[in-house]
Amino acid sequence: MKILLLGSGGREHALAWKMLQSPLCEALFVAPGNAGTAAIATNINISPVDFSAVKDTVLTHGIDMVVVGPEDPLVKGISDFFKKDSELAAIPVIGPSQYGAQLEGSKEFAKQFLIKNNIPTAAYDSFTKDTVEQGCEFLTTLQPPYVLKADGLAAGKGVLIISDLAEAQQELRNMLVDAKFGEASAKVVIEEFLDGIELSCFVLTDGKSYKLLPAAKDYKRIGEGDTGLNTGGMGAVSPVPFADAEFMEKIETRIVKPTVEGLKNDNIDYKGFVFIGLIKVGNDPFVIEYNVRMGDPETEVVIPRLKSDLVELFVAVANEKLGEAELVIDERSAATVMVVAGGYPEAYGKGDVISGLEKVEGSIAFHAGTKPDNGQVVTNGGRVIAVTSYGDTFMEAIKKSYQNIAGLHFDKMYFRKDIGLDL
Ligand code: AMP
Ligand code: GLY
Repeated sequence: MKILLLGSGGREHALAWKMLQSPLCEALFVAPGNAGTAAIATNINISPVDFSAVKDTVLTHGIDMVVVGPEDPLVKGISDFFKKDSELAAIPVIGPSQYGAQLEGSKEFAKQFLIKNNIPTAAYDSFTKDTVEQGCEFLTTLQPPYVLKADGLAAGKGVLIISDLAEAQQELRNMLVDAKFGEASAKVVIEEFLDGIELSCFVLTDGKSYKLLPAAKDYKRIGEGDTGLNTGGMGAVSPVPFADAEFMEKIETRIVKPTVEGLKNDNIDYKGFVFIGLIKVGNDPFVIEYNVRMGDPETEVVIPRLKSDLVELFVAVANEKLGEAELVIDERSAATVMVVAGGYPEAYGKGDVISGLEKVEGSIAFHAGTKPDNGQVVTNGGRVIAVTSYGDTFMEAIKKSYQNIAGLHFDKMYFRKDIGLDL
């Protein structure tokens, strides 16, 4: 099969690396890709949200399947675009319909879905410009801290957690009345604060049955000891030491099964990944959010732990035969440490030459924000390289990643030195 993968991050390099191990994968194109995918596949320099360019690419290269990495094209309806186009309708897209993608694209849609399907989540209410005063009133009924979420996609910045009531009310006004996050905050979900430890759970579904992939824990803050600004993710480990078999069973029974049942009962066309952001409160899992794609950098530890043929699984998803497929997981732990550009997640430089990549041994350097430049690899984003390793324990895996990072260099390179230490 000829496969087109959309996206350009560490997630996509990991997906590409895995798909290329499949005998079913005859050629792989990545759009737009990075220096890592350029080294193993063919990059196509188009934007994943430029659907007509995606169509041209699919027709020019005789693509048999499209795998969507990031959420943007899904929320914008790429699956529906394919279904409605007579030249593309027969080509499967791994990624949900636009309606299904609202699980990530609209916090309110996700909350309604959770409540309707009796899936444990924080109590909430939602408000618009016309009900801002009721929203301020609702805040007074909650215990601090207050959780305010812009309904729509806000590049990962739309969630505010505020301990002071007056400040929370002011921010609610900023979001609803002054459009702090533009259209994304035309509606705001206000949620009860859940106190616990977070983990990410990943499901592949054909809309009828599902496979539960390994869980992972991601490190979101830029600073050591989980301090400073939120990032896309600075490292991850899988499996998650505090999610034992009993807890995973609770996740599957209380959350994963009713999620897939809910999709089926509502006839939601959903063929792709569901990433469930969870919080462990006491010994019980609660859903914080759904994403309609894999996590990044979680993919860089989850996918390497998959022994099964990923393309075979995608074909099963496309044919609604996932129930018959087999999922085999590597028992080893995997850990990844993200190497980022100095300044990230605020302003940072691009175009710095990365050296030492050829010396990486016993780890996998998944490229994120990189690009090829005259035979060299240069930085091209905030998160630059995710160094993934296996180990009998996650500490062993992390140690190996740090040993290999020691041989990497670019100007103002930064990484957290405490990944996994809290566990
Ligand atoms: P979200 O975009 O919904 O994942 O929210 C971003 C982050 O805010 C999460 O990863 C949590 O750390 C935090 N968060 C979101 N909702 C809650 C909640 N109800 N209680 C506590 N923390 C939350
Ligand atoms: N690492 C979190 C995410 O991919 O959203």
